Amino acid sequence: MSQSLATVAYLGAAILFILSLGGLSNPETSRRGNLFGMVGMALAVLAAVFGPRVSSGGIAWIVVALVIGGGIGLYAAKVVKMTQMPELVALMHSLVGLAACLVGFASYVDTSIQYQGAEKVIHEVEIYVGILIGAVTFSGSLVAFGKLNGKIGGKPLLLPGRHWLNLAALLIVVWFGRQFIHADTVGVGMLSLLVMTVIALLFGVHMVMAIGGADMPVVVSMLNSYSGWAAAATGFMLSNDLLIVTGALVGSSGAILSYIMCQAMNRNFISVIAGGFGSGAPAKKSGDAAAAEPQGEVTPITAADTAELLRDAKSVVIVPGYGMAVAQAQHTVNEITRTLRAKGVNVRFAIHPVAGRMPGHMNVLLAEAKVPYDIVMEMDEINEDFPDTDVAMVIGANDIVNPAAQDDPTSPIAGMPVLEVWKARHSVVMKRSMASGYAGVDNPLFYKENNRMLFGDAKKMLDEVLAALKA
Ligand code: TAP
Repeated sequence: MSQSLATVAYLGAAILFILSLGGLSNPETSRRGNLFGMVGMALAVLAAVFGPRVSSGGIAWIVVALVIGGGIGLYAAKVVKMTQMPELVALMHSLVGLAACLVGFASYVDTSIQYQGAEKVIHEVEIYVGILIGAVTFSGSLVAFGKLNGKIGGKPLLLPGRHWLNLAALLIVVWFGRQFIHADTVGVGMLSLLVMTVIALLFGVHMVMAIGGADMPVVVSMLNSYSGWAAAATGFMLSNDLLIVTGALVGSSGAILSYIMCQAMNRNFISVIAGGFGSGAPAKKSGDAAAAEPQGEVTPITAADTAELLRDAKSVVIVPGYGMAVAQAQHTVNEITRTLRAKGVNVRFAIHPVAGRMPGHMNVLLAEAKVPYDIVMEMDEINEDFPDTDVAMVIGANDIVNPAAQDDPTSPIAGMPVLEVWKARHSVVMKRSMASGYAGVDNPLFYKENNRMLFGDAKKMLDEVLAALKA
């Protein structure tokens, strides 16, 4: 493939990636967005492999690597459960970070291109910064992976004087950066690079260890952003324009997503990064569970009585959460929705921005079950309608409907915007027990006079509700 053809292919891929991101911003266009992304990536890989910079002898190696990497990716995508997606994403980010480090070291020892003067300095800065971002992303993502799958506890690790430690690390990195650029030999430069890499790896571990479980969604999104910048840095090192553009797209969209999530959880981005918040999350696991202990009496309800409530309602709002994903209850939810709508009931869905375990988790499940998009509302669109709602049906959600976020300033989730289901005439919460949710805090909603608890697996209980509705 000639250089100009490769450039055209890169341009086409970059446009497809932009269209892909645009498509992914809306459930109705997201399938198309995914398709654009896949075609763009295929084009980019083909143009890179068959482009002018790969010798014919190298192609065989690349194809072997593609088959191995692609096979592992395919297997992982097939076996991973939807609820484990954030872990998988964290692991993938770590690989981007590792790739940036390896490319950085390889670029430094590669003497095939001799840079001189300002160009040499620029190239070395690219290498230094690329490895720095890559190493932070690599170790930070591995810790995030461990925290998300429970192998590492969710409690924030707060070392004494941790901000000073971070500042000292930054100063040392800057000093070694200067040494690196002024190094006379590759050996001296390599020493500076290695010291910086070790510090960056430790910093990545320290940064994510200091962040509590409740803030992990933001951290994963932030690491996504870092992985984009690491890829962009790799693009600079390899003089690959497409990698620079793609990395910048991932970096900036990850940063925007982190910002949106911070707003949805009423968190300040800087304080998330500074760490220490979210210590409520591990309460459930660590046994230090005072905040998660049930604090009152609840009124249970049967599936048949729930069906009765729904049948008599004019307006129903369904609030899905993580438990709906675990129970895979979305298809039954859709069946119930269709049955109720056929009876003239106004049914809508209320989606909290951090419901479930990843951005858009509930939208994906509802779209899979073919719930019409026009009755799926964002939190801001529907929160005001709860006082005019007859029944709010909460399916496996907990933190996102917790009134303590508004009423209790000492709560670990204080200030997080929540769906105000308690303002509906009746609310029914479907879950298996009185266990707390992700943030590990008790939920006063359960004890409200107008609330009923439908205990059991969401899928099983909804099947019973559906049967009763159809009877
Ligand atoms: P959670 O607060 O985690 O509550 C989910 C509830 O579902 C649990 O209390 C659990 O109670 C119940 N449940 C689990 N399996 C069930 C099943 N098979 N059938 C019925 N119920 C079941 O979920 P949420 O309300 O969706 O809130 C999301 C939380 O996760 C927030 O704190 C958010 O910050 C955090 N988070 C979000 C993301 C993103 S980006 N969305 C990523 C990571 C973390 P039982 O055990 O009693 O059944």
